Amino acid sequence: MTKKQLETSVQFLKDKGFDAPEVGIVLGSGLGRMVEEIQNPRVVHYHNIPFFPLATVEFHSGKLIYGEIGGRRVVVMQGRFHLYEGYAFTDITYPIRVMHLLGIKRLLISNAAGAINLGYRKGDLMLVEDHLNLQGGSPLAFKTVSEFGERFVDMSCPYNPEMSSGLEAIAKAEGIVLHKGVYAAVVGPQLETRAEYRMLGRMGADAVGMSTVPEVIVANHLKLPVAAVSVLTDECDPDHLEPVNVAEILEVAGKAEPKLVTLFKKLIETF
Ligand code: HPA
Repeated sequence: MTKKQLETSVQFLKDKGFDAPEVGIVLGSGLGRMVEEIQNPRVVHYHNIPFFPLATVEFHSGKLIYGEIGGRRVVVMQGRFHLYEGYAFTDITYPIRVMHLLGIKRLLISNAAGAINLGYRKGDLMLVEDHLNLQGGSPLAFKTVSEFGERFVDMSCPYNPEMSSGLEAIAKAEGIVLHKGVYAAVVGPQLETRAEYRMLGRMGADAVGMSTVPEVIVANHLKLPVAAVSVLTDECDPDHLEPVNVAEILEVAGKAEPKLVTLFKKLIETF
């Protein structure tokens, strides 16, 4: 990743009409319907953007969409990049840097995650308050990082308190269950063993997934306020663990999605 590559990607998108977006949104697996809320959409497929990584997982449609939600100019990633697809940390966070250079002032992230906290049910939402990086690397561990920002980024408050409390207030007003907790990021793509779920619980995780944390680290690198919400798609009870069913995970995500859309849309209206 070089500055020149980033500038080329950004100029390409500006030429396509991606004009000064204010908010960036990342949609997780099975959470693509938020795009129906976008007014006057302009759609660019990832594979057409110079220097963008390519989406490989079939259920990720891989598009960057520009338009308006709640009266704000937004840029939405429908589908993200994962380490488990073989990308480097700098690849999966490249779009965050592109959206930042396009001008976003805030970032909203969603993901599908397993519930480690057994008080939480599948179909519920969880506001990410903090995280555990268990992916064995960092999107800031590269030679030229100081050209892009500081190397030793503070992570004492990685999730923006105002955006987070805004989401909580909206959830309360709308009668949406919004738990709070710690999201642990693993590489995947295999799901966890019973012993791993037990370990994650003891480490302090409330949810586990395969994304988000690198994006949040880069948002902090860029001093870009970020909030994240997990859609809990399965209950990871080590003593009653059932074989994973990816189709069911996506189905649960799809059913819970309207709640996520409400939270994000109403939050954007307050900006
Ligand atoms: N583990 C990891 N990632 C996940 C899970 C899980 O149980 N559910 C949804 N994404």
